[in-house]
Amino acid sequence: MSSADLRRSMRHAAVYADYILRGTWRFLRVAVPRVYAFGLMAVILWLTYMSIRYLVVSLAVPGKTPPQIAALPTRLDREAIGAGRTAFAALDAAEHPRSPLAHYHRLDSWIEPDRFNDCTRSGCHGPLPHAKGKEVRAFLNMHATSIHCGVCHFQGDEAPRSLVWYDLQTGDARDPPAILQAYEMVSGPDAKSRWKKATADQQRRLVNLLRRASREAGGIAGLDDIADHFNAYRVGSPGFEKMLDSVPEVLPRYFRGEYGAKLAVRDAASGRPVLRHPDTESAVREWFARKDTAGADERMKLLAAVHPLRSESAMSCTHCHSVEGSRVDFAKMGYPPARVDDFVAPIVFRMIEHINSGRAFHLPEVLERKH
Ligand code: HEC
Ligand code: HEC
Repeated sequence: MSSADLRRSMRHAAVYADYILRGTWRFLRVAVPRVYAFGLMAVILWLTYMSIRYLVVSLAVPGKTPPQIAALPTRLDREAIGAGRTAFAALDAAEHPRSPLAHYHRLDSWIEPDRFNDCTRSGCHGPLPHAKGKEVRAFLNMHATSIHCGVCHFQGDEAPRSLVWYDLQTGDARDPPAILQAYEMVSGPDAKSRWKKATADQQRRLVNLLRRASREAGGIAGLDDIADHFNAYRVGSPGFEKMLDSVPEVLPRYFRGEYGAKLAVRDAASGRPVLRHPDTESAVREWFARKDTAGADERMKLLAAVHPLRSESAMSCTHCHSVEGSRVDFAKMGYPPARVDDFVAPIVFRMIEHINSGRAFHLPEVLERKH
């Protein structure tokens, strides 16, 4: 190739490159704003669509109820209680004093399943079995969450009855519920003066009891919170004193069915709780096989065979709720004095007398708590 040729083709290449550059530049100048405008339009259209859809859907289509409100047990039957506390988000939601639910319900308590109670485990009785007497059934069912059926229904009229706490997880005898022990440490008219002389050991004991009480109840944020506060303040500091003022009012909220333990009749020989009618497996099987076809007389016989320890009539309220001759030695079973006062208080007596004589009683008066 001659040098003239080379120069010419280089010139051509330069012209060509220039042509491509200009063309590209022109294209970009037109295209970029268009792509940009198009993109912007797409975003605006999409946002408009989303907001109108949101408006239409939220106004016109009834939404799903949030689990905080819907996930409530409507009946405390075997299934609901078996599911456990954590299955119902609303129990914790309702604990928040400003949640909408808390306005209507106080659901801070929960009933733990009793895996060792053969009366309910056999498939015969529900965990809240009382339905007949409408004046007393709520009271009796409330008791059934912390007292084994046998305490009221087994034969024996000793006063006091020999009783023992048993663990709902293991069925074994155990110490009184941690929350009662914690309550004992902070309640009573002399609570504050007792804490004046308290040591760090006692503070640790209180904190540990509260944490255990929360665990025993299946995890209660409110109790863990109280434990953390008692842990953080120095004994005798204003913060600690303030806790001593408020906590005795708060702890009783966690007394119902959340002990992780129940009272049962104590077997004299072994010291173990009596949680069943002994040697009744075949009688129970026979009852289930025959109950639908048996006549009235046979049913009575079958039921008697299932319940060898049952007394003719269950204990009534004043058998236990009395200062003298109570079938339950509340103090011995670990109930703090402030709690025992509640159980034998004239207000409970009066109400019970009203129930027994068939007169109306007024619940708010009963629930009013004075410390
Ligand atoms: C605090 C004592 C107490 C406890 C605990 C208790 N009961 Fe009762 N129960 C009674 C009394 C009192 C009656 C009689 C009620 C009446 O007069 O209306 C009764 C009645 C009953 C009845 C008759 C039907 C009815 O609806 O009233 C059944 C069944 C029964 N109890 C089963 C049980 C079972 C099962 C348990 C344990 C899960 C239990 N009870 C725990 C005191 C108790
Ligand atoms: C076997 C003895 C016994 C019998 C019978 C009994 N109670 Fe009780 N009652 C107790 C015990 C123990 C407690 C504490 C339960 C707990 O720790 O949750 C209690 C708690 C109560 C409370 C709660 C008090 C408070 O301040 O929180 C009331 C109210 C009550 N009983 C009323 C009654 C009525 C009404 C009856 C009869 C229908 C009755 N009791 C029958 C033993 C009994």
